[in-house]
Amino acid sequence: MKKLVSILIAVMILATVVTGCGKKGKTIADIQKAGKLVIATSPDFPPFEELQNDGSVVGIEVEILEMVCQELGVEMELAQVDFESVLPGVQSGKYDVGMSGISVTEKRKKNTLFTDPYCLAAQAIVVTADSPIKSKADLEGKKISVQTGTTAEQFCMDNGYTVDAFAANSDAELALTTGKVDAWVIDDLTAAEMVTAYNAENGEQLIILDEAMTTEPYAFAFMKGSDELVAKINEIVNGLVEDGTVAALFEKYNAPYTAPTK
Ligand code: ARG
Repeated sequence: MKKLVSILIAVMILATVVTGCGKKGKTIADIQKAGKLVIATSPDFPPFEELQNDGSVVGIEVEILEMVCQELGVEMELAQVDFESVLPGVQSGKYDVGMSGISVTEKRKKNTLFTDPYCLAAQAIVVTADSPIKSKADLEGKKISVQTGTTAEQFCMDNGYTVDAFAANSDAELALTTGKVDAWVIDDLTAAEMVTAYNAENGEQLIILDEAMTTEPYAFAFMKGSDELVAKINEIVNGLVEDGTVAALFEKYNAPYTAPTK
């Protein structure tokens, strides 16, 4: 009998190792048992998630996931991390969800399960008002600041630009305003908010070029294997897109809304 038990235990351990250390994604039951949804976020990304002086995080994505938590009957717990740590933390199961204006890409899909996108965004080029750079073509051979781990960084590297990457968005902005780089590439709606805030304090010093670099859908990120949980969250979020709640949230934050393509 003892022998049988040890064999059984050995088989179970082997099975766990073979199936990837027992990491099988998150289920609705896991979340409800924990009573909370643990969300990794880099809150330097207005109007999606922005850290306030009182330590709270506000924004469009915060409000969407608040509604999701309400629907699931769980609390929302935010873990603030640098953007480059969001996806690895979700992939390892440390966090349940990644909420960071995350663009869905084929490369990321290999290690991450995404919800359906809820909006479309683009990469914008920001330069100083006196810059000779007037279009994408003028960027050739120039130095560009980006946030580490973003699609902006990937895009600029793929296109052969000299890239200066920063963990925090504010430092990527600072590199431009202090003349360390020639341009800053960042998602369009965040660019609009940060440039408006900067110019309000410093005069009309930064401009966003009309020409966007890419179009990218935003979604929330989950650990692979969380299909049942993600199906439920898709149902909730798609409902909020279809009934106009998401568009109204963009309006609340003064941001133009572009619906995802079906
Ligand atoms: N959308 C871009 C990406 O997925 C940038 C996201 C940056 N997000 C942030 N919270 N700082 O790479």
